[in-house]
Amino acid sequence: MFEKQPYTGTREQQYDTLLRQLSGLIEGEPNRIANLANAAALLNQFLDEINWVGFYLLEDRELVLGPFQGLPACVRIPVGRGVCGTAVSRGETIVVDDVHQFPGHIACDSSSNSEIVVPLRSGGEIVGVLDIDSPRLARFDRTDADYLARFADTLAAHVWGGDSKHDSGEERGNEP
Ligand code: SME
Repeated sequence: MFEKQPYTGTREQQYDTLLRQLSGLIEGEPNRIANLANAAALLNQFLDEINWVGFYLLEDRELVLGPFQGLPACVRIPVGRGVCGTAVSRGETIVVDDVHQFPGHIACDSSSNSEIVVPLRSGGEIVGVLDIDSPRLARFDRTDADYLARFADTLAAHVWGGDSKHDSGEERGNEP
């Protein structure tokens, strides 16, 4: 059973604890849906000031909704559309400080004001994205982007196998 415990220390130390918890949760479990569902639940109890966290999985140039926590969301997002589809077409993490300034942003929950989308990779190919929304403007910073990329890499390596490493490229801004 998962024991809820306070995260202590610096934000980096708290994220290190989160990464250890992720490894413990997915270790020995091959089922993709189970692992993605637990990863979304783990992030939901770790991150403050978020209103949606979950996964979209790539199928034939379209992102399809996967396990998540939050309000029901749009099911299909074409590559190149919205923040999620743009992260796939650019092949990099996108941090959006104000989603209302991001042309083409797809609003699934009207309380969302900022967003981070992190690609999931297997064997160098993008297989999906981790998407997190916040009601607070500019909720996500460089520390979040760096650690969430490690979270996504650990998860994708286990769930899809292969080399899932991110390059260090990250985009911050409101342009699509
Ligand atoms: N805002 C996303 C759509 C997914 S929801 O936020 C859950 C986008 O613009 O791609």
